[in-house]
Amino acid sequence: MTKRVCIIGAGPSGLAQMRAFQSAAVAGADVPEVVCYEKQSDWGGLWNYTWRTGVDEHGNPCHGSMYRYLWSNGPKEGLEFADYTFEEHFGKPIASYPPRAVLFDYIKGRVEKAGVRDQTKFNTIVRDVRAVDGGFDVTVRDAVADAETTERFDNVIVATGHFSVPNVPEYPGFDTFNGRILHAHDFRDAREFAGKDILILGTSYSAEDIGSQCWKYGAKSITVAHRTAPMGYDWPENWQEVPKLDRVDPKTAYFIDGTSKDVDVIILCTGYKHHFPFLPDDLRLKTPNVLASDDLYKGVVYNHNPALFYLGMQDQWFTFNMFDAQAWYVRDIILDRIAVPDMAARIADVKTRQDAEAALADDYACIDYQAAYTNELVAETDYPSFDIQAASQAFYEWKKHKKKGIMTFRDHGYASPMTGTQAPAHHTPWKDALDDSLEDYLRG
Ligand SMILES: Cc1cc2nc3c(=O)[nH]c(=O)nc-3n(C[C@H](O)[C@H](O)[C@H](O)COP(=O)(O)OP(=O)(O)OC[C@H]3O[C@@H](n4cnc5c(N)ncnc54)[C@H](O)[C@@H]3O)c2cc1C
Ligand SMILES: NC(=O)c1ccc[n+]([C@@H]2O[C@H](COP(=O)([O-])OP(=O)(O)OC[C@H]3O[C@@H](n4cnc5c(N)ncnc54)[C@H](OP(=O)(O)O)[C@@H]3O)[C@@H](O)[C@H]2O)c1
Repeated sequence: MTKRVCIIGAGPSGLAQMRAFQSAAVAGADVPEVVCYEKQSDWGGLWNYTWRTGVDEHGNPCHGSMYRYLWSNGPKEGLEFADYTFEEHFGKPIASYPPRAVLFDYIKGRVEKAGVRDQTKFNTIVRDVRAVDGGFDVTVRDAVADAETTERFDNVIVATGHFSVPNVPEYPGFDTFNGRILHAHDFRDAREFAGKDILILGTSYSAEDIGSQCWKYGAKSITVAHRTAPMGYDWPENWQEVPKLDRVDPKTAYFIDGTSKDVDVIILCTGYKHHFPFLPDDLRLKTPNVLASDDLYKGVVYNHNPALFYLGMQDQWFTFNMFDAQAWYVRDIILDRIAVPDMAARIADVKTRQDAEAALADDYACIDYQAAYTNELVAETDYPSFDIQAASQAFYEWKKHKKKGIMTFRDHGYASPMTGTQAPAHHTPWKDALDDSLEDYLRG
């Protein structure tokens, strides 16, 4: 095969794409040359933790949004690879909510086994992509060689994630507030906020988890202001939910119900932007963070240029196994095993998905919707089919356990959809487990 395929980003999505091609090659298929550009010095995407904020060592925007002590916020049974189980990787069953280092190890294990590292060009940022003669010219800068080059590819797969460029609102008084104001993207270590009164804006996963981290590591109080609705969990006594922020003065936050609170720190857990500074207008996806993204046929093919693909651009209940389903599907389009229909059919596909999303009643329906989407793609490729209903079941139980105890839900375990094995209880309750290392997690 003479085709050349460019993958941008070696996070879980880009790694899934490399593994998809490698598995086809092992099965005897003639596969394209694959080149993956990764701007960081290692693979793993967000799971490759960095202490840096602002710019990276090369002066590029720092990708990392991960922080120390982060544990999986959903059960690992919801994200397990069907072709590489946790039991295979760790040699034994492990508990259901691993910390970052454990998930990083798992992600790396599969691609190290596949032997695809030499397809990845590290420290190399993609700066520009242009559609040319049915293919693409991709311009990259190798930060180590300090050199820019342009290469021609037949296909480009954008796998740069969408939880790295922060959405940063401004409220009146921010410019004269005496404490620190930061976005979740720049949060690294909860110990920094021990003994402090913290105000959090936002009510989604970052708000819930960063607040919980700060609580666990000794913050004096947590106040969460909601723009739409409170999270409504049974919070610890030094945690309160309040209405939307109105303004701040040098030390006090004022809320729209007339109440106020003196705070030391404001953490903006206000979400992220789909941001692709290396793509021109005709190739650039513009979509909110939803389950059925705009302009993506089957959630992956860019409608306006079907030689261009995007992975993992949806809002995410399912992650690693959904990225796999997408990567195998994209691979099979590139291998001419799956045909892409005409523009009218592609547009109709997106509309059908968006209408279905608009009709979803609650979070359980969203989980089912994304499970069905993942299953739909899996069924069209040779990705090992798995019991996706068991993965959904783990998510249902996770939601119920969170309702029962927001600081205890990570103490529960679920059955693997791949092996059926029930996860053991972790040796220490999450709230008391201050050491999040791989060694500590796996002991005992
Ligand atoms: C704080 C946080 C916690 C999370 N926790 C969980 C969790 O517990 N469980 C879960 O399932 N999911 C979690 N997620 C969701 C997360 O999105 C996925 O787990 C996963 O990391 C997405 O993989 P990705 O490859 O699509 O993107 P990313 O992991 O973001 O990887 C993208 C890669 O692209 C590279 N890149 C970007 N731009 C360029 C460029 N121009 N040139 C070259 N390379 C580039 C980046 O360096 C990066 O390596 C979390 C997200 C955040 C922000
Ligand atoms: N493992 C973990 O524990 C963990 C931790 C953190 C993040 N994550 C992952 O990271 C991803 C992103 O989550 P996220 O919580 O950062 O983003 P998100 O889910 O997009 O939520 C953004 C939040 O910001 C609020 N918001 C936006 N603009 C605002 C404004 N101007 N003023 C006040 N509030 C505003 C939104 O409120 P409205 O509801 O009013 O729109 C919403 O609550 C998720 O996939 C999540 O799973 C995981």
